[in-house]
Amino acid sequence: MTTNYPKRYTVTSALPYTNGPIHIGHLAGVYVPADIYVRYLRAMDKDVVFIGGSDEHGVAIPMKAKKEGVQPQAIIDKYHGIIEKSFQDFGISFDNYSRTSKKIHHETASEFFTKLHQEGKFIEETTDQLYDPVENQFLADRFVTGTCPKCGHEEAYGDQCEKCGTSLNATDLINPKSTLSGADPITKSTKHWFLPLDQYQGFLEEWILKGHAKDWKTNVYGQCKSWIDDGLKPRAVTRDLDWGIPVPVAGGEGKVLYVWFDAPIGYISSTKEWATREGKDWEAYWKDKDTKLVHFIGKDNIVFHCVVFPSMLKAEGSYILPDNVPANEFLNLEGKKLSTSKNWAVWLHEYLEDFPDQQDVLRYVLTATAPETKDSDFTWKDFQTRNNSELVAIFGNFINRAAVLTHKYYDGLVPSPTELLDSDKEILAALKAYPKVIESSLERYRFREAQQEMMAVARLGNKYLADNEPWKLVKTDEDRTKTIMYISLQIATVLARLAEPFLPFTTQKLLAILNTDTDSLVSWNAIAENDEYLKPGHQLNKASLLFSKIEDAQIQIQLDRLEATKKQNINTQKEITEQKPIISFEDFSTMDIRTGTILEAEKLPKTKKLLVLKVDVGLEVRTIVSGIAAHYTPEEIIGKQVSVLVNLAPRKLRGVESQGMILMSENTEGKLVFINPESTLPVNNGEIIC
Ligand code: 2FM
Ligand code: ZN
Repeated sequence: MTTNYPKRYTVTSALPYTNGPIHIGHLAGVYVPADIYVRYLRAMDKDVVFIGGSDEHGVAIPMKAKKEGVQPQAIIDKYHGIIEKSFQDFGISFDNYSRTSKKIHHETASEFFTKLHQEGKFIEETTDQLYDPVENQFLADRFVTGTCPKCGHEEAYGDQCEKCGTSLNATDLINPKSTLSGADPITKSTKHWFLPLDQYQGFLEEWILKGHAKDWKTNVYGQCKSWIDDGLKPRAVTRDLDWGIPVPVAGGEGKVLYVWFDAPIGYISSTKEWATREGKDWEAYWKDKDTKLVHFIGKDNIVFHCVVFPSMLKAEGSYILPDNVPANEFLNLEGKKLSTSKNWAVWLHEYLEDFPDQQDVLRYVLTATAPETKDSDFTWKDFQTRNNSELVAIFGNFINRAAVLTHKYYDGLVPSPTELLDSDKEILAALKAYPKVIESSLERYRFREAQQEMMAVARLGNKYLADNEPWKLVKTDEDRTKTIMYISLQIATVLARLAEPFLPFTTQKLLAILNTDTDSLVSWNAIAENDEYLKPGHQLNKASLLFSKIEDAQIQIQLDRLEATKKQNINTQKEITEQKPIISFEDFSTMDIRTGTILEAEKLPKTKKLLVLKVDVGLEVRTIVSGIAAHYTPEEIIGKQVSVLVNLAPRKLRGVESQGMILMSENTEGKLVFINPESTLPVNNGEIIC
């Protein structure tokens, strides 16, 4: 593979909203792949800046503040702190992590808007917008939900449908409802500035549909194509809100920039902040044609990074466009969509409490199961298996054996090899090929594949030791043992270099064992050009375990926690219906409730919910039609003792007369359960045989 490397790289990762902490979905979809990519570029000695920051103008922020009775500033300060710490804890190696509430960002975004305004790049229009008559507020974005006109999803937001990804205007929604008051919105006219995306249709067709059909991921390209083919419409870039960057032009009083107008400019202001601190020229990273700009994002952000922001950059005129936008799909947790509001998530700060110092295990598993081409699933069992049978059994085992045996046989000094056999030479040749193989995957944003190749190096080492058994050979052939240990330590050293982007914390431990550091380590490109990576006579440090086994009990704690969340969600979802009018004791005592035994049960044909039961109620055997088929199979209830209301007036249900009612209740999981003296009598062919 020949690669034409650009002069420098600007790598951005989506700026998270500061209205909650971040979870595994964020790491898997955006930050771990971005970090792997950047660490790889640094290992290649490339000039790269890795940009991050908090997105602090999202409408969910003032909404949350209102709910909690605090100022939005308190919310953003809290979550900016938590999020930034999580990134540091998981080794996401930003060169700069900024905030869109900073002065530098307000200035940069205002200047950007003003320039487009002065150059006549916006349309100024007074239109009817949705308005909440109860809260006296215009409704856009997350302030309004309704049915998506494209896919019919009933909870689409005013700016986007999260189900089908379509970008929407609030007025597109069918049956809109205010999320503030629940009121049906009225319409009211208001003036806004619009970016006429329709004028960029031709540019986007040329740039994306013709220019990036081959090198963009199919999920990204497909979404872009569908929007472009649908025909783009002007999009408002201002809002009637009091949280955000004030519109900096006459007539903009009381209005702010749309969060999706200012947020991507946050990448630019964060770069400026970094450049000022580091004495660099920020413009080279955003305007030089020989800079490669890459945006790492989740799939819900594709339209904004591939259509809206590039059109803004194009309108401004002096900026480069992204070379690629390797968006991932979504990660699920134990088969269900991750959800902040339902607490269905593994929060990064909580993970570290349960698995301290095991950041790399999570990074590894999230990369191994990354939703690169379609949604994928994180399960705790898989997490355990990948740790125990891959990281511990292969990577950790290889390094531990190599280090422990070197200490045992040579007091920790790298031995000199004697004669290299063909099999040894093959190993060294294979090692030299790995950097290019991994590079090829990373350059195509295939992080799963790249990590598998990195693990293949660990496998190679593990197999080499297992095949050659130096622990046996040492008794008969000292020379050969030295060669085997020498080769093993060369593999371990190459592994330290190649694993660093994926497992940065482990690599530091490995470097400590090898008694070397990143700067002294062979560079990525030099692996293919060298035959030796750790010199004979070099002293190793004491061996220590890189990974430890994760026990079933640790996994069970996580599963139990999710189970508890599930139950809590069912309980909070249940609608509390109003109590019915009071009845007298006399009324109550007119009900004749008896214990009965179910003798027979079968489904009522052509119904989903109904079972026809034969119940011995003591007086006689009654036929009772009961709506419990969704909760019980006929087989599992034959023989059950149940409480029966026997003097309920008979009525026909789907043609069968029901002569009473089985009393049921709902348990905490929403399942119907019998109200009964909990005993099951043995039944044979419908007859009680006691
Ligand atoms: O979806 C989100 O979490 C947005 N805050 C991402 C913004 S990315 C960029 F444009 F700032
Ligand atoms: Zn939709």
